[in-house]
Amino acid sequence: MEAKSKVLIIGGTGYFGKFIVEASAKSGYPTFAFVRESTLCNPAKTKIIQKFVALGISFLFGDLYDHRSLVRAIKEVDVVISTVGHHLLADQDKIIAAIKEAGNIKRFLPSEFGSDVDRMHAVDPLRSTYALKARTRRMIEAEKIPYTIVSSNLFSSFFLPTLAQTGASGPPKEKVVILGDGNLKAIFNREEDIGIYTMRAVDDPRTLNKILYIKPPANIYSFNDLVSLWEKKIGKTLERIYVPEEQLLKNIKEASPPLNVIFSVYHSVFVKGDQTNFEIDPSFGVEASQLYPDVKYISVDEFLNHFV
Ligand SMILES: NC(=O)c1ccc[n+]([C@@H]2O[C@H](COP(=O)([O-])OP(=O)(O)OC[C@H]3O[C@@H](n4cnc5c(N)ncnc54)[C@H](OP(=O)(O)O)[C@@H]3O)[C@@H](O)[C@H]2O)c1
Repeated sequence: MEAKSKVLIIGGTGYFGKFIVEASAKSGYPTFAFVRESTLCNPAKTKIIQKFVALGISFLFGDLYDHRSLVRAIKEVDVVISTVGHHLLADQDKIIAAIKEAGNIKRFLPSEFGSDVDRMHAVDPLRSTYALKARTRRMIEAEKIPYTIVSSNLFSSFFLPTLAQTGASGPPKEKVVILGDGNLKAIFNREEDIGIYTMRAVDDPRTLNKILYIKPPANIYSFNDLVSLWEKKIGKTLERIYVPEEQLLKNIKEASPPLNVIFSVYHSVFVKGDQTNFEIDPSFGVEASQLYPDVKYISVDEFLNHFV
């Protein structure tokens, strides 16, 4: 049996990156985290670093803006996964340049982990963020770097605890705001499960130069169906307040960051149906729960039980 690839995660100490680091280590990949030395001294990161140590992660020190440190780290591994955040998306060209120079990488997974940016109808400010991710895709293709794009759709922990109610600290009890007509379907995946599916794909020839869509059947819900599921769980009917597209577009224009970003995500996902309004063609994509039917993902139904 071939040995598992050595995996480097850039951005592993970030919100989502830590799930990938954990899934990588627990899936048996020799796992390396590319971190800035200053991160080790950051009290806000102590718990994450301690967890990485307990998981047996190897630390490689450097900075995205220090080319030599990137090349040095990349030469140690076979696979690079970027989970850098919003403000570093434009700088993933630095990772691409280092991968080219190192010349040893079997697979690159850029920081995506959302909707498919080539098949969306987003408005700004989300549109501009997606344009940066699309630009990274085009650079990877132009440089002929082997890749897998992970289209993980919505992170469950971001949206389900409040049922996407702006400013709420818990799920709705009396009234619920529904964006659009509530009939278009969105996809909600738990971050831990996205990590597990991502690591399955890393050495899989079926995901080479493809988009891995994480679209397990039990996690596809329209807003209306999500509310009905929640009502069943709490044994109560909520007052449904519908926000038409024109109003949501006005709210996006008038809101300040980060609220305008969140509203534009809602618009793309719930009003335009950008996560489910296209078919996955084998020429460009594969679906994770079909490729890996043995993965026991947490369904939306199970996830919501924690909030009843
Ligand atoms: N689908 C969804 O619902 C959803 C939701 C949120 C995010 N996402 C996506 O998930 C991905 C990750 O986003 P995130 O919010 O988890 O990111 P994040 O928390 O902002 O993480 C940023 C990471 O980059 C590291 N970093 C910052 N500057 C660096 C530098 N100069 N050199 C090396 N590393 C540096 C940070 O290190 P420190 O720890 O030291 O700061 C941290 O590990 C993005 O593509 C985002 O669009 C998707």
